[in-house]
Amino acid sequence: MRRVPPTVLPTPLLALWRAGLAPSDARDVIAVRESAEAALQRAFDRPVAALLDSGTSALTLALQHAAAGPRVRSDRRSAPLLVAVPAYGCIDVPTAVLGVGAQAMAYDMDPETLGPARASLQEVLHHGADVVIISHLFGHPVALDEWREECDRRGVVLIEDAAQWAGAGWAHGPVGAHGHFVVFSLGRGKGLVGTGGGVLLGGEGFPSAAPMALNGAGRVGALLRASAASLLGRPSVYGLPASIPALRLGEMVFHAPQPPRALSMLSGRLLPEALARAEADRTARLAVANRYRAAARDRGVATAPIVLDGSKPGVLRQPFLLTSRQPVPVHLGVVFPYPRPLSSQVEVAPIVRSGPATPCAEHMASHLVTLPVHAHVRERDIVELCDWLTGSAPPSS
Ligand SMILES: Cc1ncc(COP(=O)(O)O)c(C=O)c1O
Repeated sequence: MRRVPPTVLPTPLLALWRAGLAPSDARDVIAVRESAEAALQRAFDRPVAALLDSGTSALTLALQHAAAGPRVRSDRRSAPLLVAVPAYGCIDVPTAVLGVGAQAMAYDMDPETLGPARASLQEVLHHGADVVIISHLFGHPVALDEWREECDRRGVVLIEDAAQWAGAGWAHGPVGAHGHFVVFSLGRGKGLVGTGGGVLLGGEGFPSAAPMALNGAGRVGALLRASAASLLGRPSVYGLPASIPALRLGEMVFHAPQPPRALSMLSGRLLPEALARAEADRTARLAVANRYRAAARDRGVATAPIVLDGSKPGVLRQPFLLTSRQPVPVHLGVVFPYPRPLSSQVEVAPIVRSGPATPCAEHMASHLVTLPVHAHVRERDIVELCDWLTGSAPPSS
């Protein structure tokens, strides 16, 4: 039976194989790294600090540098770093905190903006947080100017987690201007490349060590995995892998922290084209998202987060908050992306210090769904999803 995946691999198969079969001698390794760095510098107008094997590694490196950098007060250097993390979102964020031997304290979320609940993050800062991580979930831009000012005032490091960037920005430029460090992911389901990797932009005082050489190993495996993800992500076949529990597709899976490694040659080669495609891809996804938002506007089963004035949502997927707990049309790609809040993530529990209550994050875990907006969503899917959003049709399967 047809089943729509929540997201798809954004890189076309042909581009994937062209990059995968291209030569990789020592000169190419340098040329590919330089052209990836130049494309990032053009897109974000910030220095590239490191090209890594995952977004989690980029977060890890940012935390390591935050711990060693001038912002963390010298009288706190002997205590473990305290990192303010979102109470709702990707488990990879607290995993990076675990990986550097730091402690985390969760702040609550504002379901209307998908950013921090102001009073809650203030409270975590009062507890002495040294670093704040704020994510632009699903490519939904969070206003960070006031948090940057607050962090600067307190000597706290702000890490802008744009792992799910998807072309998000503001009228005057892309997201990524506010963090002392900015993190991107090139992993599956993130809208940019999809073959794995991470980028760290920034930051002041970042040591100018020799850049890591890109990793040419494991190319065939990466190419085959990405091709399989691309083919199996088609709605005509996706039902099969999605029905195999061992694959844990669409689940939030904890991966033990690993030391950061270099970006693969494959992802490095694909990155400039992916950045060049980002705005056209974003525009196509936004057209679908706007139809869902219009359908849900007046009455219905769900409300969409506020799009802030002057913001350009990346809409990796379109989030909605259900007005009540109810069955959702899973076959049309509607999922609960993060069904467990940080408070019930047992794997990272040992490093999570108790802080403010996080009722909104808990509500989001059980009520926030995302609708697919990618190129495999067809007109009939959109019409059915709009009917579901207006409350005029139950979720058929
Ligand atoms: C918000 C957020 N931050 C960080 C990460 C980590 O990225 P990666 O999967 O490349 O390690 C993810 C991945 O899902 C994410 O969604």
